[in-house]
Amino acid sequence: MKLENNTILITGGTGGFGLEFASKLIALGNTVIITGRNAEKLQEVKTKLPAVHTIQSDVSKAEDIISLYDVVTRQFPELNILINNAGEMRKLSLHQNHDLQDITREIEINLIGPIRMVQQFLPHLKTKKSAAILNVTSGIALMPFPISPIYGASKSGLRSYTKALRVQLKNTDIKVIELVAPGSSTPLNDKFKNEDGFSANALMAPDKIVDAAIKGLQNDKEEIYPGLAKLMRVMSRLAPEFMLSQAAKMGASTMYKNQ
Ligand SMILES: NC(=O)c1ccc[n+]([C@@H]2O[C@H](COP(=O)([O-])OP(=O)(O)OC[C@H]3O[C@@H](n4cnc5c(N)ncnc54)[C@H](OP(=O)(O)O)[C@@H]3O)[C@@H](O)[C@H]2O)c1
Repeated sequence: MKLENNTILITGGTGGFGLEFASKLIALGNTVIITGRNAEKLQEVKTKLPAVHTIQSDVSKAEDIISLYDVVTRQFPELNILINNAGEMRKLSLHQNHDLQDITREIEINLIGPIRMVQQFLPHLKTKKSAAILNVTSGIALMPFPISPIYGASKSGLRSYTKALRVQLKNTDIKVIELVAPGSSTPLNDKFKNEDGFSANALMAPDKIVDAAIKGLQNDKEEIYPGLAKLMRVMSRLAPEFMLSQAAKMGASTMYKNQ
């Protein structure tokens, strides 16, 4: 699809991939609206990137999605692209006690959030001649990831949902795209830097991932696999148990003790 003169809503646009998407898509001549929970971070982005529009909104809250829809469709009726990017990733030992609300946080942000966003915005997107929904999953959607078990489940779920959504929307003008992002040097990964078996060298720069995503969108790709995600795709099919055994090494010495 053409990536100019679109109106694009990006959840989680104050850092990492979301911010890269915002600045690159504005540079290409699109109107861009970003969300995030933190008002100060939104203001900082607005100062650095005056063309961006910012709205404070938490994608894990249904009531925030309803009011986001009201504001966006009133102020930006031309909205035709939704990028479900907001996400959180924790390393988490299941041996420890966890509050039953908090344990599912990544499911609420990374999976239920995009499902609700799509449900809320779909009737509006259907009115557009050319529209798209881009869901940001992960290489970790292709395999279990023991050090972040809830995150892995949220991204596998989002991948499954995205494939089903594409089938259901096949007779509409809405394209459904999955960005299967590999590990990247964004704040999301800061907590993993010293973890056993974690290699910061394997991380791809977020701007390169977003460049690949933009190229994929322009070339009408349904699934985009930048950098190592291509290899993970092949390996997770050919040798799923090997992939799990490699992932299981991360954090093994510190996190999985029966305590
Ligand atoms: N970095 C990686 O290695 C990697 C790899 C594969 C896939 N991904 C995926 O790529 C996406 C972006 O990740 P990133 O690395 O760019 O993360 P990041 O640098 O931590 O940025 C996350 C963004 O999401 C926002 N956010 C988090 N929770 C939110 C919520 N409940 N409602 C609205 N906004 C929320 C954050 O702002 P506030 O905190 O202010 O809300 C921030 O703007 C995520 O879906 C992530 O799972 C990342």
